[in-house]
Amino acid sequence: MRYESAGAASAVRARHDGAKRNPFSENECGRYYARSMASWGLLNAWGGFTYSAPDGRMTFTDRPGRYFWANGRAFGTATVANGRVSVEVVEGTLPAGMTFATASGRAHASSKPQRNGEVWHDTAGHVINAHGGCVMEHGGRYWLYGEHKIYGTQGNVAPVGVPCYSSDNLADWRDEGVALAVSGDPKSDIADGCVLERPKVVYCANTGKFVMYFHLERPGRGYSDGRVGIAVADRPAGPFVFLRSTRTTPGTYPVNANADEMGDDALARSQKEWEVACGRTGEGERALIYPAHVAGGQDSRDMTLYVDDDGRGWLVHSSERNSTLHFDELTDDYMGFTGRWWRFAEKDWTEAPALCKKDGRYFLVGSDCTGWAPNEARYYRARSLTGPWERVGNPCRGVNPANGLGPEKTWGGQSNYILKTREGRYIAMFDIWNPENQVDSRLVWLPVQFKGGEITIEWQDRCEAVP
Ligand code: GAL
Repeated sequence: MRYESAGAASAVRARHDGAKRNPFSENECGRYYARSMASWGLLNAWGGFTYSAPDGRMTFTDRPGRYFWANGRAFGTATVANGRVSVEVVEGTLPAGMTFATASGRAHASSKPQRNGEVWHDTAGHVINAHGGCVMEHGGRYWLYGEHKIYGTQGNVAPVGVPCYSSDNLADWRDEGVALAVSGDPKSDIADGCVLERPKVVYCANTGKFVMYFHLERPGRGYSDGRVGIAVADRPAGPFVFLRSTRTTPGTYPVNANADEMGDDALARSQKEWEVACGRTGEGERALIYPAHVAGGQDSRDMTLYVDDDGRGWLVHSSERNSTLHFDELTDDYMGFTGRWWRFAEKDWTEAPALCKKDGRYFLVGSDCTGWAPNEARYYRARSLTGPWERVGNPCRGVNPANGLGPEKTWGGQSNYILKTREGRYIAMFDIWNPENQVDSRLVWLPVQFKGGEITIEWQDRCEAVP
């Protein structure tokens, strides 16, 4: 077979030597093209080489041997032995985060342990590409969802959708494919190229369905759209069906609104002031924002979903240009808003909210508002979800040895979600973003410690709450 293939390649190359006439036009199939492709296709076939730039994957045959590869950025050799592949770059560079595996999925990298701030691999050896997401427990398994990132500075638009992984132990994650796919229809709100961030999924016991919310910026609008997207599925891994995107709670005032924020005067003042309310100092600090958005709905960016002990679902999100948190009560099927909502942490500029409840107290961990750059985390606590909420302090402790950053910068990360495990442990999840190459953003999971009504989250190289 090997010799027959080489013979076929030689015959093609000889046929297209430039002297004999090409039966097709040179435009369609030039002789250089035909000659090189005859050999090139065989080289790839021989090494079983496939390359996906968006997924950051290179795969090779299972057959032991040494093979040539080239992917447009670099070339080199791959050595396959004992079901593992090691890759050597001869020229060019491979971006950080690239994974290499054999066709049967036995990778050169072990799937465990998942060490905080390092590249995490799934059970097939591919990099886990799920950022800013959440973990849901259902049916005896954990389900991880997140933002799918791609290489380079364009890595923050969504060309794929929301990937899903599942695990029974929080350490070995199986790739479950794309749970919510972006649309190929340019008119769709979730068209390829939208910004789709912080997907959260909860199970709705009233309907038996899985409901996903996420921060959506429709294509080409930067971060000006500030909408929430809603999708629903019959199974945890999807496929999720996109229902709609919207601003939140249109036509309603918050339950805890101040009287002087609801009249015509307040509306007139708000319509004038929200235009300047982009900063945390001066005009922005004083501006009254939300009344101007009562008619059309409030903006929604970083967010989380939370199901309370009574089964009531909540969307908690940064609103009013990220200055204030909104808590929106969801309808019984979790697919919309009841119209009852509360404002908290007014002008505190809290992003990345993550919520949990322990011993009758709710805790909300969040970040300051500095884009992708890390900042100091803060947490709030309350006896009731609808407040009052009290700002307590920074729960983070310890230093990330990889970058030398401690609580002052959340170890280089930003809060995202808090999972309560089957064993009753709480795991706080963070993202170390890499805006220069978002696919190489890293995950950090750490146990939450509760003591005397306070919480602390201490850096660990490997999360001890993961078995
Ligand atoms: C962060 C936010 C991220 C993303 C980013 C865009 O503050 O937490 O989810 O929206 O800003 O700059």
